[in-house]
Amino acid sequence: MGATITGIGSYLPEKVLTNADLEKMVDTSDEWIVTRTGIKERRICPEDQASSDLGAEAARRAIVDAGIDQSDIDMIVCATITADMIFPSTACIIQHKLGLDNIACFDISAACSGFIYGLEIARNFIDTGRYKRILVVAAECMSRVTDYTDRTTCVLLGDGAVATIVSKTDKNSGILDTYLGASGKYGNLLYVPAGGSRMPASFETVEKRLHYMKMEGSSLFRIAVTAMSESVKKILERNQVSSEQIKLIIPHQANIRIIQSVAKLTDFPMEKVFVNIEKYGNMSAASVGVALDEAVKSERIHNGDLICMVSFGAGLTWAANLIRWDKNG
Ligand code: ACO
Repeated sequence: MGATITGIGSYLPEKVLTNADLEKMVDTSDEWIVTRTGIKERRICPEDQASSDLGAEAARRAIVDAGIDQSDIDMIVCATITADMIFPSTACIIQHKLGLDNIACFDISAACSGFIYGLEIARNFIDTGRYKRILVVAAECMSRVTDYTDRTTCVLLGDGAVATIVSKTDKNSGILDTYLGASGKYGNLLYVPAGGSRMPASFETVEKRLHYMKMEGSSLFRIAVTAMSESVKKILERNQVSSEQIKLIIPHQANIRIIQSVAKLTDFPMEKVFVNIEKYGNMSAASVGVALDEAVKSERIHNGDLICMVSFGAGLTWAANLIRWDKNG
């Protein structure tokens, strides 16, 4: 028994924040952002929407794509670090928005690696034989934890969501293997200091802008390149797959220079690497999934192709998987 993605959909808010817009907000330039990151624009969620709204819309599209009745879903897993609230889980909120009831729902916090973690969680639940169709959502409103007075972070991030229907398959296809890693000792390189149980919200935390993401970009850059390239090598080696056999590699979209370095270290020509960072920036957990959706819709992936997804994020976490694409299940 195995698990495969039988439906996928994404949702990007309409509002576009361009590099020219950011030039008016902080001391930066389109030239710096494009050459240092590869990003030209990103999407921003309107005030009356939260991660669950983006996630629910992506889920509706994935359900249509899978051609199933939504009552066939028996679990919802939501990867997010920008949950609507501390509790209840965003997965429970999405369940209610979809008009579903009485199925298991929970969130996972693995930052940008959350989508690959979520797919692996779904695969393992399906392997137990008790679940047949799991909705895996990755939904992020990164703009809500971004300090738009801090030029070192605000140029990088955007909002968006992706959803997949992960279904049981009896074929030797779908999610073949996943490698998951994490190292908590690097937690201080990327975090939101306030708003949790360590430093609850107060006038002081708001005044000091402690509800916004803090990041050490250059250390993260180095670790990301190593963690992502090692993850790709590990998943290929242990499945005895060469880079030539991979149709497309889909990396987390944090920085084009990280993507290029990983491609070089793992022997992938850039023609085999999916890149959409210029349109959306880094949408944390949603990035790699939205990239997968666009790769499928633009016919860069067909049934039977071997693909590899790889990511890294706060935690720090990292993850890579190997998928034999098979939407028919
Ligand atoms: N515009 C203009 N100048 C800038 C900007 C900006 N937006 N941001 C930084 N600079 C300046 C810096 O102040 C510095 O100036 P100085 O030399 O006078 O001190 C100079 O540019 C170089 O700064 P670096 O930090 O060394 O630039 P670097 O080439 O490392 O690029 C970046 C910075 C883009 C942040 C890069 O390090 C990176 O992408 N790191 C990884 C970030 C990442 O992936 N984070 C994951 C976050 S999401 C998640 O997991 C939730």
